[in-house]
Amino acid sequence: MHFANRLQTLKKNVFADMDRAKSQAISNGKTIIDLSLGSSDLPADPKALNAIASSLDDPTTHGYLLHYGTLKFRETVAQWYHQRFGVEVDPDTEVLTLIGSQEGTAHLPLALLDPGDFALLLDPGYPSHAGGVYLAGGQIYPMPLLAENGFLPVFKDIPSHILPQARLMVLSYPHNPTTATASLAFFKEAVAFCQEHGLVLVHDFPYVDIVFEGMAQPPSILQADPRKSLSIEFFTLSKSYNMGGFRIGYAIGNADIIQALRRVKAVVDFNQYRGILNGAIAALTGDQKTVEKTVKRFQTRRDAFINALNAIGWQVTSPQATMYVWAKLPQPWENKSVEFCTELVAATGVAVSPGAGFGKQGERYVRFALVHDPDILELAVQKINHFLEETPKP
Ligand SMILES: Cc1ncc(COP(=O)(O)O)c(C=O)c1O
Repeated sequence: MHFANRLQTLKKNVFADMDRAKSQAISNGKTIIDLSLGSSDLPADPKALNAIASSLDDPTTHGYLLHYGTLKFRETVAQWYHQRFGVEVDPDTEVLTLIGSQEGTAHLPLALLDPGDFALLLDPGYPSHAGGVYLAGGQIYPMPLLAENGFLPVFKDIPSHILPQARLMVLSYPHNPTTATASLAFFKEAVAFCQEHGLVLVHDFPYVDIVFEGMAQPPSILQADPRKSLSIEFFTLSKSYNMGGFRIGYAIGNADIIQALRRVKAVVDFNQYRGILNGAIAALTGDQKTVEKTVKRFQTRRDAFINALNAIGWQVTSPQATMYVWAKLPQPWENKSVEFCTELVAATGVAVSPGAGFGKQGERYVRFALVHDPDILELAVQKINHFLEETPKP
C-alpha cells in the first residue's frame, strides 16, 4: 500500500514515545499521575451545560449547521471581543466558528501556503502549528525562543533569504509551553515586521483568560493591528470554560483571511452540533464565574507546585499565566528531556511532557500541566525527588 510522503513529516512526534512509556508503566502496575496533557480536569461551565441540555430537546438543533455557524454565535463573539479589547469586528465577515481552535490553526496553512513556502513558527511551540504547515506541504523556519529574550522571538535574526518565500508568522502568548507573556509593544513590532515582509500574522490565543493575580490582561493582536490589515486571532472555550471535549473555538480577524479559511473548512466539515454553539453563547455572556474560579484554582495549584519543586532544590520561576510550568531540567538530565520523561514515568508513574516535543529549543526543559489539585501535585514532586536522588544518572 502506498501512503503519502507527507505522513513521514507527521511521524516525528516524541509524544508518541511518551504514550508508549505511559502504557508500559500502567501494565507494570504503576499508578499514573498524569501531568503531561493540557486537558483541564475542571468541570465545564454550568451555564453552557444547561444551554446544551435544553438544545437537545429542540429538534431544530439536530441538523447540519453548515459553514457559517449561527449569526447569534458570531454576534456574541464580536460583542465579547469588543467589550474585552475595544476593537470592533464585523460578525458577518470577520468572525469564523471553529471546531476547536486547533482545527483552525491547522487548516489555515492550506489556505495560505503553496508547497515549499515558509511559515515562521515559535520554537518551542504548539506541535499542531507545525503539523498544519506540513500538511500544506510548507516548510518551517523555527524562531528560537530563549529565556534571556523572555521567550520572545527576535525578528531581526530571521535570515533574509527565508523572508521572500515566507507567507505567515505564528505567535501565541501567553505561551504554551514556556508560559511567557507578550506586551502590546511587542505585538506592534510583529505587525510592522509582517507588514514590511508581506506576511500573514496568526495569533493563537487560548490562554487569554488564564492569567494570574497582579498580571496585566494580555493584549490581543488586533489591538496592534486594529484595521485588521494582515492579522487573524484564534480563541477557544477549551481553557477558560473547561470545554475542551466540546470542540468549540473561533477566529477573528482580516476578512480575506477569514474567507480563505472558511473556503478550506467548507470542504472538510459542517461545524459542530448547534447546541454546543448555544452553550458557548451562554458561557461568553453574563457573569464569568467559571473563568474566575478556574483561574483561582490554577493559581493555587501553581503556588503549591512551585513551592514543592523549590523545596526539593529544583528552582523554577513561577509562571504568570497558563496552566503549565516550564522547568529547566537539572543536571545531569540537561538535553535529555525524552529520556528523563520516559524514565520518570517508568520509575514513578509521574507523566510529564518532554520539552523536545515542542521543538529543538525545548530539549533542556520539561512541561508540567497543572491538571491536578495541590495534594496530588505535591505527591508528584515527592516522587520526582525520589527519582532524582535514586535513579542512576544517564
Ligand atoms: C497553543 C494552543 N493552541 C490550541 C490548543 C487547542 O485548543 P482547542 O481545544 O481549541 O483545539 C491548545 C491546547 O492545549 C494550545 O495550547
